[in-house]
Amino acid sequence: MTNPDNPQKENNPTNPAATEADGVGALPHGRPLQTDFNDGRDYPRLGSFSFRRGKLTDNQEAVWEKNWPQLGKVLSAELIDIDEWFGRSAPNGTIVEIGSGTGTSTAAMAPLEQDTNVVAVELYKAGHAKLLGSVVREGISNVRLIRGDGVEVLQRMFAPQSLTGVRIYFPDPWPKARHHKRRIIQSGTLHLIAERLMPGGILHVATDHADYAEWIDELVEVEPQLEYLGWPEDQSEIPVLTDRQIITKFEGKGLDKNHVIKEYLWRKK
Ligand SMILES: C[S@@+](CC[C@H](N)C(=O)[O-])C[C@H]1O[C@@H](n2cnc3c(N)ncnc32)[C@H](O)[C@@H]1O
Repeated sequence: MTNPDNPQKENNPTNPAATEADGVGALPHGRPLQTDFNDGRDYPRLGSFSFRRGKLTDNQEAVWEKNWPQLGKVLSAELIDIDEWFGRSAPNGTIVEIGSGTGTSTAAMAPLEQDTNVVAVELYKAGHAKLLGSVVREGISNVRLIRGDGVEVLQRMFAPQSLTGVRIYFPDPWPKARHHKRRIIQSGTLHLIAERLMPGGILHVATDHADYAEWIDELVEVEPQLEYLGWPEDQSEIPVLTDRQIITKFEGKGLDKNHVIKEYLWRKK
């Protein structure tokens, strides 16, 4: 049965409350925060996702328990004081990466963008546990983590014009037509991202999925506050790092299948 107020509940037989132990970094019990944007734009409907994926090792659990309280937050209605969280006012501002997965590129890029704060947003605890492990092991000081739906995180936890960049690398392609409404790149998400970027801020999206690329191609001009830049050969004018440094887990899977990687950049006007 469809529950229009709570599509996640409808699609998600694995209630997180039933599968995750309470503790630091656990998603809250009950109905997840879901904004009714009601502005005529399209917003993704959160699809089903399993909270069982990947079990943390004892070492990862220990690292999580010790470090999450300082370095992580769970989606909430808290508007983040970015300077306080990072303990500085970063010269190059703050980038939010939505769907960081295991955070391989996040950790690889961070040392090259020391003057930038990077906030990795992911639903998947085991993915964030890997990134947290890298952050702690490698002494990375400019990365923080948020657990929750990236759309709600942007909507509730970041102020308008507070970001210099947003990254979405290899978002879930939801290949079946009846699942396209779950794709994160939609007119509403592009609008919300534009609202959160400061003028000159950059949105960078990459996909290896040909059908998703066609879907994005249709949307590149839909948000009037974003100037579509394509993927310029000369990126010296782009004020944020666009080189992932390392092939991400999902990029590698696509390349193994000979998929073509397509990259997109937009600039907030
Ligand atoms: C295909 S994977 C790509 C992961 C990583 N960027 C990479 O390239 O290896 C997509 C990731 O986005 C996460 N994800 C999906 N929907 C999300 C949402 N609404 N908010 C935050 N993360 C999301 C998934 O849990 C998954 O880890």
